[in-house]
Amino acid sequence: MAAGGSREVIRYAADQNGLSSFRPLHRLKDKAAAGHAANVKMKEHPMEHRYQPAGHGRRILAAVLRAACEPLAFEPAVLEAPRRQEVLVRMVATGICHTDMVIRDQLYQTGMPMILGHEGAGIVEQIGEDVTTVAVGDHVVMTYAYCGLCAPCATGHPAHCAHMGALNFAGGRLDGSSSARAADGSPLHDHFFGQSSFATHAIASELNVVRIRKDVPLELMGPLGCGLQTGAGAVLHALRVGAGASFVAFGAGAVGLAAVMAAKAAGATTVIAVDVHPARLELARELGATHTIDSRTTDPVLEVRRLTGGGADFTLEGSGRPEVLRQAIDSLGILGTCGIVGATRQGTEVAFNVNDVMIPGRRIMGIVQGDVVSRTFIPQLIELYLQGRFPFDRLVRFYPFDQLTQAMADSERGVAIKPIVRFEGVVA
Ligand SMILES: NC(=O)c1ccc[n+]([C@@H]2O[C@H](COP(=O)([O-])OP(=O)(O)OC[C@H]3O[C@@H](n4cnc5c(N)ncnc54)[C@H](O)[C@@H]3O)[C@@H](O)[C@H]2O)c1
Ligand SMILES: [Zn+2]
Ligand SMILES: [Zn+2]
Repeated sequence: MAAGGSREVIRYAADQNGLSSFRPLHRLKDKAAAGHAANVKMKEHPMEHRYQPAGHGRRILAAVLRAACEPLAFEPAVLEAPRRQEVLVRMVATGICHTDMVIRDQLYQTGMPMILGHEGAGIVEQIGEDVTTVAVGDHVVMTYAYCGLCAPCATGHPAHCAHMGALNFAGGRLDGSSSARAADGSPLHDHFFGQSSFATHAIASELNVVRIRKDVPLELMGPLGCGLQTGAGAVLHALRVGAGASFVAFGAGAVGLAAVMAAKAAGATTVIAVDVHPARLELARELGATHTIDSRTTDPVLEVRRLTGGGADFTLEGSGRPEVLRQAIDSLGILGTCGIVGATRQGTEVAFNVNDVMIPGRRIMGIVQGDVVSRTFIPQLIELYLQGRFPFDRLVRFYPFDQLTQAMADSERGVAIKPIVRFEGVVA
């Protein structure tokens, strides 16, 4: 990669802090022309047996976003060998998160065509020569990408990495390259959330794969890498909901229900779930909600105020709807904090009463991925799961990979809370 190209990418990444667009400034480059400098060097390395030479890529079957709002297309493709700090993961299963639909519908503009999917769980099949923290055969959960070097990363907030947009939504690495090519040789965007897990195999950086214990069902674990760590992390890390606190989840989807379970685990004594699906509210009760509110029939702001004696200590907006964010702010008590995790179309604005925020000292906090360090948090969530204190398997419904479109539709219709597609028997 030429130095000039790198500078351009850094400028691009900085532009993404405004989050106005995740589209890359320049198109994918022809990597053959770029010379695969890293791979060429690898040939001289004593551990070269780990690598496939560039050009002898891994054949995969992938679900590709080719047009906004259209079902993903199943296509054969080829992944290049992992670069020095990368790993190739054979996918066992991947969760579907609402954010996959946000991108399918281009509420955030991204590179296209792109392989989506970002809750992958699989087995490491190949590693780059500089990889030290995972080995071939390890079971891993894939999570979001971060640079590891910027100020937010260096101070323990990698989910707020300065390069978050470029690394997770642009559809490639920071240098503008991607790993995948379509069957006709044309480049495909990948690295969606640093992984693009809707495929039989995925390339990720060593930074964003988390090795997990082998005695838990790997096919269940993928959603820990996004939806579940987001809800649980928002409660345990970002908001720091404590024993005796009151907490309200607006939206009892996968993120909201993970938050409900975490609030219970943290000892919150009033845990309220708000949704428009009675079945989800019922499940919320089973998972630890002390109260539920169907906002189609009951004003959630008045009801939260009534249940909490004036307003909640913490609320979490997990529906992705602007009018619900306003409710989550208005439901706060004095010194209460509202966390925002729900994703809205780029450019969405929400009005609130300034004095009603300022005078009671209410706070509003944006939260990505629960503001957690996945490398430590995901194993902790697995421990809580094994102790029966984070029973996220209750949210899951499995589908074969070829029913991905159905699984996405079921999530949107409220039929499945956390669909997971399995790759068993899928041949690339
Ligand atoms: N910030 C992050 O890091 C992050 C991570 C994961 C997901 N997300 C976003 O969080 C949101 C939730 O994700 P999810 O996978 O749980 O989605 P989901 O679709 O499973 O959950 C959304 C829930 O909101 C409910 N809802 C709809 N209208 C409502 C209303 N008026 N009042 C209350 N609830 C209402 C839906 O019935 C559904 O249960 C999405 O916007 C997703 O894109 C953000
Ligand atoms: Zn997600
Ligand atoms: Zn960073």
